[in-house]
Amino acid sequence: MIFDIIGKFGRIGVFTKQRSKIVDETKRQAYLNALEITQWEARLPHLKTADSFEVEFESPPAMQQPQAVEQVNDDRDAFMPAEPSVPAVVAPAAALNWDSLRYQVKQCHACDLAESRIQTVFGVGNQKADCLIIGEAPGADEDRQGEPFVGKAGQLLNEMLMAIGLKRESVFIANILKCRPPNNRDPRPNEVVACQSFLQQQIQLIQPKVILSVGRISAQNLLGSQEAVGRLRGKVHSYSAQQIPLVVTYHPAYLLRSPLEKRKAWDDLKLARQQLVK
Ligand code: URA
Repeated sequence: MIFDIIGKFGRIGVFTKQRSKIVDETKRQAYLNALEITQWEARLPHLKTADSFEVEFESPPAMQQPQAVEQVNDDRDAFMPAEPSVPAVVAPAAALNWDSLRYQVKQCHACDLAESRIQTVFGVGNQKADCLIIGEAPGADEDRQGEPFVGKAGQLLNEMLMAIGLKRESVFIANILKCRPPNNRDPRPNEVVACQSFLQQQIQLIQPKVILSVGRISAQNLLGSQEAVGRLRGKVHSYSAQQIPLVVTYHPAYLLRSPLEKRKAWDDLKLARQQLVK
């Protein structure tokens, strides 16, 4: 039996809890087209009965040690020589409420990125979101505007979210780093360590039902892994002691350069969406 999976979602009202945030069917099809998802697919197993869908949970240490980079086939996910190590200063953020956390991020000088940034990029969205998107670090556009994923990659991210029925404002979007690394270089280990308690506290406050980790830097740091995105995607991991389901997918900037991988990203998005209805 061949069904349009998205149409089915619209009919059974899986997202009734947030009906106002649901994207209508015509728009969703447009976003699917943007994702170049044109093929009709077999219907998912009923979303509440996950028995026919194998879900694998792992418990790696979350965001413990930023990992040295290995060769991978993501593009921003490409090999970079190890940076000289700099002792890390950690910005403490445990137990802060949203306002205090935002203030601490704004004031942060725990690493050198404070000197080169225009502004910090705290994160944006619904503080009670079911879905938390975690990217790598602000780029030039984000540094200017103070909001994550506002450039071309951000537009594609919005379309990816819309394709699974989620508006940008219904999720929360954050990055591993709150400040832009100069020339968009990879985050250095001391920078990740300096920044990690901010993100950990955001996760603690949001308590999302699923984390969608986009790109190598995000996935490797959240999972404490050195594996390539191609190996981490396609299954459900468990983030930290909180055991939050975490799905890895390709970074939208990579998808813009490698559109053939959008098909796999679409599979990952469906997997993430399944976690929302459990
Ligand atoms: N890439 C990211 O990983 N995060 C942003 O905020 C923008 C681009």
